[in-house]
Amino acid sequence: MNQRSDAVVLFGATGDLARKKLYPALYQLAARGALDVPVIGVARSEWDDDRLRGYAEQAIRAKGQVDEGALTSLLNGLTYVSGDYGDQNTHQRLVDRLDGARAPLIYLAIPPSVFPAVVAGLREAGLSGGGRVLVEKPFGRDLASAQELNALLSTAFPQENIFRIDHYLGKESVEGLLAFRFANTLLEPLWSRQYVRSVQVTFAEGFGTEGRAGFFDHVGTVRDVLQNHLLQTVALLAMEPPISEDADAYRDEEVKILRQCAPLDPATTVLGQYVGYLDEPGVGEMSRTETFVATRLSIDSWRWAGVPFYLRAGKYLPGSATEAVVELKRPPRLLFAGADAAVPSANRIHLRLGHDDGVTLAVQAKAPGARTVTKEVALRVDFGSALGHRREAYERLLEDAMYGLRHRFAREDTINEEWRIVDGILDPEARPIPYYKKTWGPSEADRLAGLTGWHAVSVKE
Ligand code: BG6
Repeated sequence: MNQRSDAVVLFGATGDLARKKLYPALYQLAARGALDVPVIGVARSEWDDDRLRGYAEQAIRAKGQVDEGALTSLLNGLTYVSGDYGDQNTHQRLVDRLDGARAPLIYLAIPPSVFPAVVAGLREAGLSGGGRVLVEKPFGRDLASAQELNALLSTAFPQENIFRIDHYLGKESVEGLLAFRFANTLLEPLWSRQYVRSVQVTFAEGFGTEGRAGFFDHVGTVRDVLQNHLLQTVALLAMEPPISEDADAYRDEEVKILRQCAPLDPATTVLGQYVGYLDEPGVGEMSRTETFVATRLSIDSWRWAGVPFYLRAGKYLPGSATEAVVELKRPPRLLFAGADAAVPSANRIHLRLGHDDGVTLAVQAKAPGARTVTKEVALRVDFGSALGHRREAYERLLEDAMYGLRHRFAREDTINEEWRIVDGILDPEARPIPYYKKTWGPSEADRLAGLTGWHAVSVKE
């Protein structure tokens, strides 16, 4: 059994990620009695403990009803260290505040530009020995910088104590892809080039940068979600079953399928930018940052050769959805209806991974009437209603990391493969095509998905 972390340290405690995801996740842990260690926030702002507690409280209350006892106990254990990340005194004050805790979980929710100073400071302060470090995505900006970042972290932390977050790996719905595939005999025989015609993965957001334009403009949609969330989703959709429940067996299969993906080709990629993006505060003048990407991925494996995987992601699309659509091949003809009857349209399996997660099977049924013709019907299940409450990704990931469990974190080789796949479309000179808000991106993207185009997905407006 791994040693449990004896404190949680949040670098970037006054930031957006901490507010939106980390305090609510810590509260959820506290509410089920799974957080009995001190939480120490670190950031540059000159705040004190009370100000940080107020900030965290507001963030937690904004998510809904709270258990007052759990909230109070979390806030009582929350303290703040303010200081410059490059100043060793900051790290020394953190050591003092840790008060003997020597195996903290250290979350780096900070801009990558300050990683070197923080990692050096933690090493000097002697916190790297027993500590575990959590690093937010995107891990680096490209293959070369990801390798550099890994080398930097390795100067202070052994690989098994480096936890690279891609919160999609912590989503019950995304993880459910493996259960859905491998805990049923229904799908797996169909899950290959023999029966699958194409796979489409849509990651759509019905809103824009939501006050994060300053961050987003340096990143763009390819680095923000395609390199990580979408490719991880593809890996879970396409990989072979892991040979055991060991964390590395699982990640070996992820990396194996990613290694079989061809690098993305600018010729089959469409980059877009919504009209109005350039006027947002924090966006560079004449910025070429993409807010939309659609692309075609090929997997050269025995199972998937020749099956196109179409991926698209973007902001200010008609609504929000994270959905994979697996389209099967059509049957050869419609029986009993004569040789000239239309061939029924293909079955589709819609795997909803975002809001209202669940599965819809689009199948053909006989239409009422004298003639033998068919009509599409949907067999739909919502996992929330069928299975009950599931935990949020960040709650699960923080708890896993506190116990040193690595299944749901990306390994170094996985990240490197992801960058290898997207590196070819990271051209700073590429000009994204403008698209209007609340549309599905530039019309060039519609043509990318072949004759059938993009299948409709369930969006939440
Ligand atoms: C984050 C991206 O990783 O994922 C954001 O940085 C995006 O731009 C978010 O909005 C989406 O996460 P979720 O869990 O809401 O699908």
